[in-house]
Amino acid sequence: MDKLLQLENITKRFAHPSRPEEITVLDGLSLEVSVGETMAVVGPSGSGKSTLLNIMGALERPSGGTVRLDGRDLADLGDQELSRIRNREIGFVFQLHYLLPQCTVLENVRIPSIPLGREADQAAVRDRAVRLLERVGLGEHLDHFPAQLSGGELQRVAVVRALINQPRLLLADEPTGSLDKESSQNLGEILVRLNREEGTTLVVVTHSEELAGLLDSVYRLENGRLEKTTLT
Ligand SMILES: Nc1ncnc2c1ncn2[C@@H]1O[C@H](COP(=O)(O)OP(=O)(O)O)[C@@H](O)[C@H]1O
Ligand SMILES: [Mg+2]
Repeated sequence: MDKLLQLENITKRFAHPSRPEEITVLDGLSLEVSVGETMAVVGPSGSGKSTLLNIMGALERPSGGTVRLDGRDLADLGDQELSRIRNREIGFVFQLHYLLPQCTVLENVRIPSIPLGREADQAAVRDRAVRLLERVGLGEHLDHFPAQLSGGELQRVAVVRALINQPRLLLADEPTGSLDKESSQNLGEILVRLNREEGTTLVVVTHSEELAGLLDSVYRLENGRLEKTTLT
């Protein structure tokens, strides 16, 4: 199967807040993610899950090792090319929705298409936005503002916004982390269903075994390395 993401011998070190030596968060980690695959990353708090996801999404550079997206070594690319890739090829969902409070649901979802400029057919983007919002049960909320929505609804908007430019890869960092059990389950199902329908490759950091259980594979991050695991 085609590999979308290839991480090879990745290390990531940060300066220690009080001591001279650095802390090693990722320690020679390797991973391949195939096109269309869905995977969960689990692990204790502070184990480096967000750091790993940020490296996968070209938000951070590793201290060592190689990240390839669709065969391209990200280290060879400049900032402009990387931001192009982040905008078009990668979607992000975080624990907090980061929607703009002064924009409606529909406007928020269309924001990532703005940098595409004339390349994007705005009528087609609007149609896609409306269709996706309807598919996640928000067809009645297009003109509402974020303050008028529940936590679960806000995260659904964030998922749609992440998918609007038809990215190849969706990265979600504890997307259900601030939701109650019922909204969490609902969001998990939407995330998986939408990504399967769109053929998006999906990597989700999560503490929810229910969500992890919906994905093709589960990896545990511990001591700077990933190990394939099964849920008990
Ligand atoms: N920008 C940074 N500077 C210094 N230390 C960082 C930075 N980002 C993360 N860390 C440290 O790296 C470790 C892993 O953090 P993180 O990736 O957020 O873990 P997780 O998402 O699994 O909770 C933590 O010890 C954290 O303090
Ligand atoms: Mg984290």
